[in-house]
Amino acid sequence: MRLSVILATWLSSRGARTHTLGPVEQAVAARANHLSAATTYLKPLLSQNASVILPLDHDWDALQIRGTSPRVHPKFNAIVEAATEDDVQKTVQYASKFGIPFLAVSGTHGWTKTLNNLPYGIQINMRKINSVVVDPSGDTATIGGGALQWEANRALYAKNKQTVTALCECVSIVGPMLAGGHSMLQARHGYILDNLVSARVVLANGSAVTASSSSNPDLFWGLRGAGHSFGIVTSLQLKAYDIPSNWTVYTFIYNSDKLEAVLDVVNEVDGNAMRPANLVLSGVGTRIPPMDLHNPLIVYTVSYQGPEAEAAPYFARFKAIGPITIKPATNVNNVELYKINQNSLDSAACTRNKNSMGSGVSLPIWNTTAARAAFDIFTKMTSDPRFSQSVFLLENYGMQGVRAVNASSTSLSLEERQYPVVANPTIWWNGSAAIGQADAEAYGEQIRQALFSGLPKGANKHTYVNYAVGTENFNQMYGYDTTRLQRLKTLKKVYDPSNRFGFYNPVPLV
Ligand SMILES: Cc1cc2nc3c(=O)[nH]c(=O)nc-3n(C[C@H](O)[C@H](O)[C@H](O)COP(=O)(O)OP(=O)(O)OC[C@H]3O[C@@H](n4cnc5c(N)ncnc54)[C@H](O)[C@@H]3O)c2cc1C
Ligand SMILES: *[C@@H]1O[C@H](CO)[C@@H](O)[C@H](O)[C@H]1NC(C)=O
Ligand SMILES: *[C@@H]1O[C@H](CO)[C@@H](O)[C@H](O)[C@H]1NC(C)=O
Ligand SMILES: *[C@@H]1O[C@H](CO)[C@@H](O)[C@H](O)[C@H]1NC(C)=O
Ligand SMILES: *[C@@H]1O[C@H](CO)[C@@H](O)[C@H](O)[C@H]1NC(C)=O
Ligand SMILES: *[C@@H]1O[C@H](CO)[C@@H](O)[C@H](O)[C@H]1NC(C)=O
Ligand SMILES: *[C@@H]1O[C@H](CO)[C@@H](O)[C@H](O)[C@H]1NC(C)=O
Repeated sequence: MRLSVILATWLSSRGARTHTLGPVEQAVAARANHLSAATTYLKPLLSQNASVILPLDHDWDALQIRGTSPRVHPKFNAIVEAATEDDVQKTVQYASKFGIPFLAVSGTHGWTKTLNNLPYGIQINMRKINSVVVDPSGDTATIGGGALQWEANRALYAKNKQTVTALCECVSIVGPMLAGGHSMLQARHGYILDNLVSARVVLANGSAVTASSSSNPDLFWGLRGAGHSFGIVTSLQLKAYDIPSNWTVYTFIYNSDKLEAVLDVVNEVDGNAMRPANLVLSGVGTRIPPMDLHNPLIVYTVSYQGPEAEAAPYFARFKAIGPITIKPATNVNNVELYKINQNSLDSAACTRNKNSMGSGVSLPIWNTTAARAAFDIFTKMTSDPRFSQSVFLLENYGMQGVRAVNASSTSLSLEERQYPVVANPTIWWNGSAAIGQADAEAYGEQIRQALFSGLPKGANKHTYVNYAVGTENFNQMYGYDTTRLQRLKTLKKVYDPSNRFGFYNPVPLV
């Protein structure tokens, strides 16, 4: 144990490391002996394929890069690349024993600034645990806790299967799942968490348990809605479905003066209970200077998993608004879909190491007056060259499948189960200047308030946990239903009494 103590002492003595290097590198060099001692003593506890990576090691810098670094920069002193569930357990046991903070990392795209509260500690990198297997029955797939969407989607596609994942290939399956998981398939099958059959979870005390409707059902309930606060998922079993058909995708580009007309059609189509569940509506406000020098445009995508003829009436509605361009794509398979919808690994959305910041707003319906006010702020913001690459997400993925699930069966908030609209100004900018961050936060907040000003009377303010910027209160993210909130707090006390999982929009302990 003497050597564990060396590691613990070293980790704690490193204190708060900032993401700007310099003096830190010197300090690191001075401690080189301790670093090798630490490596020597943690490594034998782990499986053959795991690694321990320290600041002088070759891979260190690459493993600090996040989707939205430098803005989001949890401060790590050591990285354990776990290769098995047992590696995760050993690392959590080790860290918990010495009070060393830790944080799991999968896709690196988490963007809430509460992640910056990690003062120092161990990155438990999950990426080696990335297997994807369609189970023999064909009705479920077992997916590693560190798998990314592209890995899961392509492995399933090879077996003519699909499961509910989110939209960007670069994001993990688990990250979105733990608080929802908005998806192109949600109108048919619910959110990702509604498709969770069981999960293996490493708890704060290092035990590994199965969470399902029959095993630790209370944990299973908490995991599906507030999962980031309860443990590390090492593998999960999701329902799998036969791929029914290819997709037809129409992309319309409108001048910004069509905003109201577009949102009116969206409200009408999406608000119709008979809307097809395989119809997905989503768009962005974005600048495309060659097409419009002065204003952002609206790029609106209507996707339909089925033949073009079936979706023709919906395409016609959007065509009638008068777009500048229409780009149809037919016979799009489940892999090409990500390219067409600009969510593939090489898309702008998947860019890493560049500040991006969302300030998500979920709404019961589009209020075009409020949306216009928000869009005007977005227009002003993107006329500032620093923020010109920002986008304004206008999402209506469809709700039948989400609403069909018994709301008491998961911890997900009632607002998240009901509100069909997600508006999310996503602000992109370069560099680590404080002024850039302050200005981005101010714009994000103004846009958010403009959207909230259009809430129907009595409707609660809601932000999707995974789109939160990190300033929201408990109610705004987890709901207003006091029984549900109390149950979450009670579970937190049982499963994580020392708040080890307290860095991602956490459920408060008290
Ligand atoms: C480009 C982009 C596209 C997005 N698209 C969607 C979308 O279509 N639908 C949607 O619902 N959301 C979407 N989101 C939001 C997304 O759900 C969150 O950003 C999510 O936290 C990302 O997870 P990650 O693993 O990629 O990031 P990470 O930063 O690696 O992880 C995020 C959080 O999850 C924890 N975590 C990671 N792995 C595990 C694990 N195995 N067990 C337990 N905790 C773990 C981390 O500790 C951290 O707190 C998107 C975000 C971005 C940036
Ligand atoms: C280690 O990884 C290699 C390559 O991915 C794999 O073939 C091997 O089975 C792994 N070993 C163990 C013990 O899991
Ligand atoms: C789906 O599209 C692919 C091409 O992307 C094509 O090869 C395949 O035959 C299509 N499948 C069906 C069922 O039409
Ligand atoms: C941000 O930096 C990238 C890479 O250096 C550069 O290509 C891009 O033009 C910059 N964007 C802005 C808005 O400054
Ligand atoms: C919803 O789920 C709760 C808890 O699991 C259960 O008590 C209740 O009976 C269910 N309601 C319906 C309508 O199935
Ligand atoms: C729409 O939002 C505006 C404020 O932006 C508000 O005055 C109006 O009452 C809202 N309309 C509806 C129908 O809620
Ligand atoms: C770990 O925590 C869980 C949940 O509180 C508890 O059931 C279990 O007994 C604990 N295990 C150990 C080894 O303390």
